[in-house]
Amino acid sequence: MINRLGVVFVACFSCLVSCSEATIENTVSQLRMTPYDLHIPNGFDPPTIPEDNALTEERVALGKLLFHDKRFSSDGALSCSSCHQQAKGFADNRAISPGTEGRLGFRNAPTLSNVAYRTSLLMEGGVPNLELQVLAPLDDVNEFDKSLVVLAVELQQDEQVNTMSQLAYGRDVDPFVITRALAAFERTLISGYSKYDEYLNGDHLMLTEAEQEGMKLFFSEETNCSTCHAGALFTDESFRNIGLYEQYEDKGRERITADSLDNGKFKVPTLRNIELTAPYMHDGSVETLEEVVAHFTSGGLNHPVKDSLIQPLPLTEQDQSNLVAFLKTLTDRKFVTNAAFAP
Ligand code: HEC
Ligand code: HEC
Repeated sequence: MINRLGVVFVACFSCLVSCSEATIENTVSQLRMTPYDLHIPNGFDPPTIPEDNALTEERVALGKLLFHDKRFSSDGALSCSSCHQQAKGFADNRAISPGTEGRLGFRNAPTLSNVAYRTSLLMEGGVPNLELQVLAPLDDVNEFDKSLVVLAVELQQDEQVNTMSQLAYGRDVDPFVITRALAAFERTLISGYSKYDEYLNGDHLMLTEAEQEGMKLFFSEETNCSTCHAGALFTDESFRNIGLYEQYEDKGRERITADSLDNGKFKVPTLRNIELTAPYMHDGSVETLEEVVAHFTSGGLNHPVKDSLIQPLPLTEQDQSNLVAFLKTLTDRKFVTNAAFAP
């Protein structure tokens, strides 16, 4: 009797232990929170990381895998990295990048350099954070043209993705995980190790005389470049009309505010890695940096809401070429060859 009870007791006890162990494994114990060591360059503030998506090695690793995953597009031909290529500063060299089935959108792919710092996303600023931004290319018929739910179901069949998802977020891969993991990876794309940064850090031999002349002009009141392209990130995050057209086909910020005073206003783009991201402007209509500088030198075209800072500039040919030389010092070779970002 006692023996029998004893056996029953032992059996039940071991069941309780192993059952509860199994439950723990499926819910919490697979979550690993290895802090990601985000290296902040001199002169940069740390970016704001949302509390509900702390940066961990596991999340960034999953985000990287997804960033390079072609299952994102309905025709299986494109990943995020098709339009945001590391060697091109996480932009590409097409005026307008073809999306799924080769369909064209209407804007130039921007660089993702230091995208963790943007206070709003997309050129009219309509998206508040990187987690939500992931929905934009998925939904767009001219980009991935794929439902996030369909994508999640497909990815759930992939054991590697599911295991990584459990480690990163303690759950199987789903829309919650996909949007957060991609955002986590994108926040690691920090670029602050260009020749210009080395110069600022005290290595004054890094910049040639022409580059230094260009730098002085860039930061001068004569050109006002740095009023808009301000600070370590070369943007003040404002929206401006620079007189690119007399009539804008793309209404820019007016698209979300419905205010004609916002016509043709676009987010001031960062200039980091600008040498690698030609062609330029929201529609990729300007081919070279020389032509961009020529645009600003001319003072642009007339437009009722053209920014008052955009005025004809008294720059010689030499000044203009020095400005271009300076812009090219913002290229960060370490960033575009960093194996941590590659597939
Ligand atoms: C077909 C090309 C294409 C693909 C694929 C693509 N993008 Fe983009 N991306 C763009 C274009 C074009 C814009 C600018 C859109 C706008 O401003 O309206 C953009 C804008 C962005 C921005 C906003 C940057 C800023 O400074 O405002 C982020 C972030 C981004 N993409 C991330 C991604 C991620 C993550 C993926 C994959 C889930 C992805 N993109 C897939 C072309 C693409
Ligand atoms: C009034 C604010 C303002 C001033 C001043 C200004 N810019 Fe810009 N710049 C912008 C905006 C806004 C855009 C994007 C316009 C668009 O896409 O239609 C831009 C675009 C650019 C681009 C192309 C970026 C890309 O990724 O396509 C470069 C390069 C550039 N500016 C350099 C300069 C230089 C050099 C000067 C000084 C000679 C200057 N800017 C002055 C606001 C400004």
